[in-house]
Amino acid sequence: MKNIILLGSTGSIGRQVIQVVQDNPDKFKIIGLAGHSNYKLIEEQALICKPKHIAMYDESAIGKISGSLSNLEIKFYQGIEGISELVQIPKADLIVNGMVGSIGLLPTIRALEAGKTVALANKETLVAGGDLIMPLIREKKLNLLPIDSEHSAIFQCLNGENHSDIKRIIITGSGGPFRGKTKEELKLVTKEQALKHPRWKMGSKITIDSATLMNKGLEAIEAHHLFGVDYETIEVIIHPESIIHSMVEFIDGSIKAHLGFTDMRIPIQYALSYPLRLSSSLTGMDFAKVANLSFEAPDLTSFPCLGYAFEAGKKGKTYPAVLNAANETAVSSFLNGKISFLDISNIVYEILSEHKGINVSDFETIRSQEEWARNRALEMIKRLGR
Ligand SMILES: NC(=O)c1ccc[n+]([C@@H]2O[C@H](COP(=O)([O-])OP(=O)(O)OC[C@H]3O[C@@H](n4cnc5c(N)ncnc54)[C@H](OP(=O)(O)O)[C@@H]3O)[C@@H](O)[C@H]2O)c1
Repeated sequence: MKNIILLGSTGSIGRQVIQVVQDNPDKFKIIGLAGHSNYKLIEEQALICKPKHIAMYDESAIGKISGSLSNLEIKFYQGIEGISELVQIPKADLIVNGMVGSIGLLPTIRALEAGKTVALANKETLVAGGDLIMPLIREKKLNLLPIDSEHSAIFQCLNGENHSDIKRIIITGSGGPFRGKTKEELKLVTKEQALKHPRWKMGSKITIDSATLMNKGLEAIEAHHLFGVDYETIEVIIHPESIIHSMVEFIDGSIKAHLGFTDMRIPIQYALSYPLRLSSSLTGMDFAKVANLSFEAPDLTSFPCLGYAFEAGKKGKTYPAVLNAANETAVSSFLNGKISFLDISNIVYEILSEHKGINVSDFETIRSQEEWARNRALEMIKRLGR
């Protein structure tokens, strides 16, 4: 039985992790839940999962649930410090990080320092803090198990292979809801249109990142850290059917691809059961119905965020953390109706151009540069003021 602490339990990833656990009650047990402020859902989840620990970022949310859960003998934790304490409890075997945003970095660091295996969906953590996390993984000889479907695909393609034999890592993406649109056409797109992803049902932030193609850029930075490859080795290709989740080309010309349904429960279950595979009801793809697998190069004119992410990744230092923080702030303002779709990439560009990168030596360096980027983004958003 694996004891799991689930961060971001109320989100899209978190809810699917709970489904996987419920499908395998003899293999996994959730002993801790954490979220931001959705106290109603976490209360429902607590009644189902019966955890011994609950952490909420928003301190007022604890007061709203502690009374109704009093007969379950739960220990409560508050704020990011509380979440970072929760991940260290001795009984936890696996920390699943399904939080959104680089706020997930500190709990990930604390979990690794405590010697825990981490299953990571929270890509912003690696984008901002890969330079801290990967040395920690090596020093502690731990596994960092990817949940992002592209990285789970690459991870599986690399099973049994020598990393020195990698020629190319090919990250696939559906192209999002605006594939094929010109920059002129993107001027008028709405939040509602941007939130209609053609293939995946996900949280709002990653759905907007998919529409700008920033998501593919964040994934390239994530792949650089996870698989220890340079950016010249990473390629992004648009694959609208989303059947191939990513590929690896080797030095002998062989290419391994991972195919499957667009259902996050597959990579989630693999990360939870690794190195074993468990059976699942999601089998039996009908290839006659799939019929075609098509590919096209990404359009960097309409979707410049992808190029900005590669540039930030190649520059290293605090550039990826700043790219990510500027993007988080811009996406949140777009979702709140304060800026237009194209403002997102403009803000990221301006902030990256202004930034003077600093070597990442500790968590504080990342946090301070993120704060600078968030404040600069907010100033720009105020100026744009809609
Ligand atoms: N959804 C997918 O299919 C998918 C696929 C690949 C990768 N990912 C990655 O997985 C991560 C989660 O995505 P998602 O789609 O599940 O997002 P989501 O639906 O928006 O859920 C986000 C979760 O994070 C929690 N959260 C937000 N801020 C927090 C904070 N300050 N402290 C503690 N918890 C906080 C939220 O809690 P509340 O509900 O209380 O606000 C919620 O549980 C992202 O990094 C995303 O890029 C997602």
